[in-house]
Amino acid sequence: MPSTLIHSIRSLVTNDPALGTGPLGLVEDAAVLVEGERIAWVGPSSKAPQADSAYDAQGQAVIPGFVDSHSHLVFAGDRTQEFNARMSGQPYKAGGIRTTVAATRAASDEELAANLAKHLHEALRQGTTTFETKSGYGLTVEDEARALRIASEQTSEVTYLGAHIVSPDYAEDPAAYVDLVTGDMLEACAPYARWIDVFCEKGAFDGDQARAILTAGKAKGLIPRIHANQLSYGPGVQLGVELGAASADHCTHLTDADVDALASGDTVATLLPGAEFSTRAQWPDARRLLDAGATVALSTDCNPGSSFTSSMPFCIALAVRDMGMTPDEALWAATAGGARALRRTDIGRITVGARADLALLDAPSHVHLAYRPGVPLVLAVWRNGALAV
Ligand code: NIG
Ligand code: FE
Repeated sequence: MPSTLIHSIRSLVTNDPALGTGPLGLVEDAAVLVEGERIAWVGPSSKAPQADSAYDAQGQAVIPGFVDSHSHLVFAGDRTQEFNARMSGQPYKAGGIRTTVAATRAASDEELAANLAKHLHEALRQGTTTFETKSGYGLTVEDEARALRIASEQTSEVTYLGAHIVSPDYAEDPAAYVDLVTGDMLEACAPYARWIDVFCEKGAFDGDQARAILTAGKAKGLIPRIHANQLSYGPGVQLGVELGAASADHCTHLTDADVDALASGDTVATLLPGAEFSTRAQWPDARRLLDAGATVALSTDCNPGSSFTSSMPFCIALAVRDMGMTPDEALWAATAGGARALRRTDIGRITVGARADLALLDAPSHVHLAYRPGVPLVLAVWRNGALAV
């Protein structure tokens, strides 16, 4: 198996406290041995083993590849007009999703696959090595199954979100749409997906509908995740924890009981600051969640409506500036936190046996990701052991 030694790393984030200092397990003057698709050795440069080839990190920082655990990237079209209207004072409404549904239904398979590939590559260039993505802009049996098939050709983390909004075709009979989502649509979609999701919100699905949808998905072997408490207070977070969801996403409007539920359960609180940025909404309070003991992940929510960014560094900068996270906490949330939200132990850390997913920064420390917002600091990316950027 070919091996490469990445050496002269000034500051290495391992996310393993046993390997270095603090919760990030920081190692100074470090080296990493990549063998095939895996990490084979991590330690000080002075003790590094021999390898077939060497890569000089030139005194810069190396971090685990970002794990973006929430995006909506099987879509067509654009919502520039809606963004313009919002920036002139209009509020964000879930109904804007219908614009993208119409464009997505009209697009060919090739167009959808090319658009997805373009955004995945854009994210990769910014250090993202694992990407979850969802359906939810088809809302018919055929269009949802098609979205998931296309997604599954480009990532293994695929989520069935037939319950994004009630399909416009069922506007007069939402109950019949829930029957479809939990019946024929689930049947057609489950083979392509690992996860099931629902947008639990006023104007989308209420608590009872969300419970029925996630329960049906579980019975089909899908693991639940939930869009919860984004635009208003609601039952989503506590329902997610009760049903064993891997993640409750958004968590913008939380009661003390919601925070307690997240702190005491296994459900990760995934915060999506790109959405609050782009909808001019209040920031989720990461500090409150962390102080209560909840596990927090950061993700982009990349979608053409509420958060059209694929940049994890941008989300880190927002989380540090406006959500009460330290740069260390934000880096952890964007890597190890995302891995937790996807129930993965092979990614989000730089430890022996983990997948060799790493990003080299044009900076001496990961802190620069928040300290130098908007600056393209990702110099090189290894994915599955191969230099990809
Ligand atoms: O996560 N909240 C629901 N879904 C997306 C928005 C999708 C859209 O506006 O197209 C979100 O923000
Ligand atoms: Fe979302």
